[in-house]
Amino acid sequence: MAMELAKLRATLASAGQQDVLRFWDDLNDLERAELVSDIESIDWPTVQELVDGMIKGDMATGVGPDWQALAARSTSPSAIRLSGEGNRWSESQARLRGEQMLRDGRVAAMVVAGGQGTRLGFDHPKGMYPIGPVSQRTLFEIFIDRLVATSRRYETPIPLLVMTSPATHDETVEYFNRLGGARPDLTDVTIFSQGVMPSVSASSGREAGKVLLASKSRLALNPDGHGGALRALDRSGTLAKLQQRGIEQIFYWQVDNPMVSICDPVFLGYHALAGSEMTSQVIAKTEPLEKVGNVVSVDGALQIIEYSDLPESSAMERNEDGSLRIWAGSIAVHVFDIAFLARMAAKAGSLPFHVARKAVGYVDGSGEFIKPREPNAIKFERFIFDLLPAARNGLVVEIDPAEGFSPLKNASGAAEYTPEMVQDAMVQQHRRWIEAAGARVGDDVVVEINPMFAWDACQLRERLAPGTVFSDATYLHCR
Ligand code: UD1
Repeated sequence: MAMELAKLRATLASAGQQDVLRFWDDLNDLERAELVSDIESIDWPTVQELVDGMIKGDMATGVGPDWQALAARSTSPSAIRLSGEGNRWSESQARLRGEQMLRDGRVAAMVVAGGQGTRLGFDHPKGMYPIGPVSQRTLFEIFIDRLVATSRRYETPIPLLVMTSPATHDETVEYFNRLGGARPDLTDVTIFSQGVMPSVSASSGREAGKVLLASKSRLALNPDGHGGALRALDRSGTLAKLQQRGIEQIFYWQVDNPMVSICDPVFLGYHALAGSEMTSQVIAKTEPLEKVGNVVSVDGALQIIEYSDLPESSAMERNEDGSLRIWAGSIAVHVFDIAFLARMAAKAGSLPFHVARKAVGYVDGSGEFIKPREPNAIKFERFIFDLLPAARNGLVVEIDPAEGFSPLKNASGAAEYTPEMVQDAMVQQHRRWIEAAGARVGDDVVVEINPMFAWDACQLRERLAPGTVFSDATYLHCR
């Protein structure tokens, strides 16, 4: 331990963070082991670089771009419409190409589920939230059903990658093990954890940039953002394994959106036809301050400016016809070429860190735990969408939100993205499909369709007798 301690002290001292050991003499063996493990999980030179950048600049704005200037130089991207005419390639061309990619077993699916879901107030990983309006299936079950339906349709295995964080990992693994017992179709799943970053003090003076302690023996750590996926995919050997299997693309989405059309062949097809390395789905924003990332083009390169970074004055700007100048809202659904991810993973610093001021509980100099009400700390996160400017032939595809976007973010009673709103959007979509098949749904009747029963309106038409009337809550699924 003495050797180990000397080494740790040296690493911490060179990063200016030796204070995290200040309670060492008070700790028992178990606590010391915890602290050592936390310290070893951190990339200290990176922390030092970020803290130096902050201290030289203004705290919390010292790293990162000048969003005001960037927004002023931004234009909106030209986007392809997922369905409809007038694109460079027809929808049927794209579908054929995407279906071939799936049949050839070139595509994997990946959901990021490392967030702590604090706004939802749910005590488990968000993927375990029962959201099915009739079935009460969880978000994870809905994704799995969609994936299995796709896999069967194209007679191809589609590996599922689930990215967790230390906060969600064990429970997610346990949950998938439990699910797997009842589902023989759930075999091709890889669950891997992203890394962490420490929170640092936002105060000025001597304390500025010091890593906070959550207890005498634990650092205050947070997941390193979904951009941590790049490093985690690489370090866990997952990228290499996928490449060995001949997988060329990853379809990526967030755990909060049960309406995502996972591995949509048309979307995959456009990506391939354009020779794109990264393709992103967008919706036309209905509100200037809608809480979605803004896809823009800056000096010819695509980029996403997060809603919290876009200055309000830029968000409010309108064209002469009244439309929003910055209109394309990211729904965080992307396709990546694996070769692109491997190239970016090999490049140091390919993803910048974003900083956020947050209230983080910490142990003060006397060992007392303080729970601040106001932001006292800086958190560092990487965003996967910052890969977009580096992608060759990056592409933007606009979808109809009613067919693919309704994220679960907040608890009941909030103004947006609540469980009730998500369930309503799911029911409305399935109601439209049923009505398009010539059947009828009574007013206020709740309906839900499992993708294994019908995965879109076309397939439903083949399975439903016209004239069928649904007058009670109905869950259409294969028995
Ligand atoms: C996010 C996007 C926003 C997009 C919106 C669409 C970011 C920074 N912003 O906003 O551009 O328009 O979704 O719904 O992503 N996650 C991890 N690890 C982390 C942090 C997050 O896996 O360290 C996952 C979460 O589990 C979740 C997703 O990333 O699936 C979104 O994270 P969240 O912080 O909730 O972002 P939003 O503000 O909702």
